[in-house]
Amino acid sequence: MAGAQVHMCKTIFPAHANQHGELSAGQLLKWIDTTACLAAEKHAGFSCVTASVDDIQFEETARVGQIIGIKAKVNRAFNTSMEVGVKVTLQDPLTNVEKLISVAFSTYVARPADGEKVTLKPVELLTPQDSLEYTLAAERRKIRLDHEHDFKILIQECGMKNEHVCNKEEDAVSTDLTHVQSIELVLPPHANHQGNTFGGQIMAWMETAATISASRLSCCHPTLKSVDMFKFRGPSTVGDRLIFNAIVNNTFQKSVEVGVRVEAYNCEEWGKGHARHINSAFFIFNAIKENGELFTFPRVKSTTKDGLRRYHEAIARKRIRLARKYVLLRKEDDFIPDPWDQTNQVNIINNNIAELTIMAEKPGWEVARTLDHIRIFTLEEDSLAIKVEMQVQIPSELAFSLLSDFTLQVHWDKYYLTSRIIQNVTEDDKIYHITSPSVNGNKSNDFLILVSRRKPCKTGDPYIIAARSVALTSVPAFNQNRSQIQCAGFLIYSNGINSSLVSYFNQGTLAIMSYFATNFTGLSKSIEDTASACIQFLELRGSKLKTVSLSNSS
Ligand code: COA
Ligand code: ADP
Repeated sequence: MAGAQVHMCKTIFPAHANQHGELSAGQLLKWIDTTACLAAEKHAGFSCVTASVDDIQFEETARVGQIIGIKAKVNRAFNTSMEVGVKVTLQDPLTNVEKLISVAFSTYVARPADGEKVTLKPVELLTPQDSLEYTLAAERRKIRLDHEHDFKILIQECGMKNEHVCNKEEDAVSTDLTHVQSIELVLPPHANHQGNTFGGQIMAWMETAATISASRLSCCHPTLKSVDMFKFRGPSTVGDRLIFNAIVNNTFQKSVEVGVRVEAYNCEEWGKGHARHINSAFFIFNAIKENGELFTFPRVKSTTKDGLRRYHEAIARKRIRLARKYVLLRKEDDFIPDPWDQTNQVNIINNNIAELTIMAEKPGWEVARTLDHIRIFTLEEDSLAIKVEMQVQIPSELAFSLLSDFTLQVHWDKYYLTSRIIQNVTEDDKIYHITSPSVNGNKSNDFLILVSRRKPCKTGDPYIIAARSVALTSVPAFNQNRSQIQCAGFLIYSNGINSSLVSYFNQGTLAIMSYFATNFTGLSKSIEDTASACIQFLELRGSKLKTVSLSNSS
């Protein structure tokens, strides 16, 4: 096997699983850490310790009888530390189907027995993929080393303490109920040959405490969805007593964040109460009900100052996580718009409406931010979708007529420079060519979209305005830089004679997500600014039209 690579293969036995026969996430974290550490040691030629683990997401649940495959490879050696990339797959021996469970990146530091620092040799780059990972490793290193600093700045700069205060809600559950404390004694099987506790073992213990804490809020078994980036602050060795304290920090409808703090004491420190803080990590769980639906977690409130701080910090972490997941991982955009020709126009129009309706109905929309008249939601699937709910004081029919004319969008959306109709397919289906200004140094670009609008079929149904990109050879891309819209649009519900609930949807393509990403990290307010401008535009136009119709009637 070339370079510093290591493969591990494990059959999942009942001892590795929970009471439902699902592989325990803690066990998987242990296997991931062991495999990655062995790859690091193969490269370093010395014993290594886990310094940090980047965000990990778990895409699939593995079960007893299935096979876990773990491939670890050193992507880059810096000075004394190395980044190891890990790919975890799941194979079903009965069907031979292989699925991706997770991609993880962890950092290991070489720690020879004498404690001296060693400078590592560079990795050999044999393939274009090796070179790509080598380059990206430097970028990821910057993100992980700046992580704590960036998080503090985000909390300070965004005045997050004043927003999203749902702690006052009467039905909110106190986080005190979710407090879990547990103790473990580090024994030789938990440590390497030098007596240093395996990072994966600590993660597994932390996951156990976190799962118990999350289960106190749900009447079903929580499933680990992701772990936030974290750092092993200091070493622990055989003989240490490890104390794990876990509590729920916040809930986000279908998910819950549990924080765990680990402190270590050796025998002498134990009596004196001198603790060493060795790790803190944040675990995100879903819970699946017996009928297969995702459990909705209750809102939580805290009675302590720390609890309230953690409640807000959990919101900030969620934003950073989303931005890192969808932008920094550089997922490729694989959306290719349908060509617009005579044979498929009816299908494309039908799909345009259908896909927006299906997206709106999906379970799993979670509130990301709440303001006075605006609520922002996210839906995490293969890609990220956003929903922006706006309360508008105009009749729904008027909102429908103003929003379905995309030439008017230039008045409130600063990302619309020009907008013109290039084909009136039917009275309710039109193709628009839209140009956008250059943003953050990116070139200006354009969109070619089909906009389809429909009135409600019956009372209570929404007005629908759906938009998606189409490909038309007669309109070549502006600057060779065309952006795509996979599925977007508005659903408008009547809230009374003069009031509507307008929901804007957009399912992310790479271009769209780069635009939203700064919003998720809290570094920009572009989504709420655009939504406010939309509300203002609708209400101003609405009142002007009302004045005109009143003066006509008198
Ligand atoms: N993520 C990734 N790498 C990190 C890091 C983080 N959060 N913090 C430090 N590092 C890297 C540094 O960049 C440096 O890399 P380089 O030499 O390649 O440039 C290397 O770790 C050493 O950093 P340094 O500042 O010299 O040391 P430190 O005093 O910050 O110690 C650890 C870093 C990780 C060695 C130390 O915190 C430690 O021993 N932690 C416990 C590790 C352990 O025992 N893990 C197993 C479970 S307890
Ligand atoms: P912070 O308080 O800034 O989040 P800590 O490292 O102190 O950082 O704790 C990490 C997480 O561990 C907290 O967010 C919380 O969820 C949990 N935690 C910390 N201390 C306790 C405790 N005494 N009891 C229960 N949970 C705790």
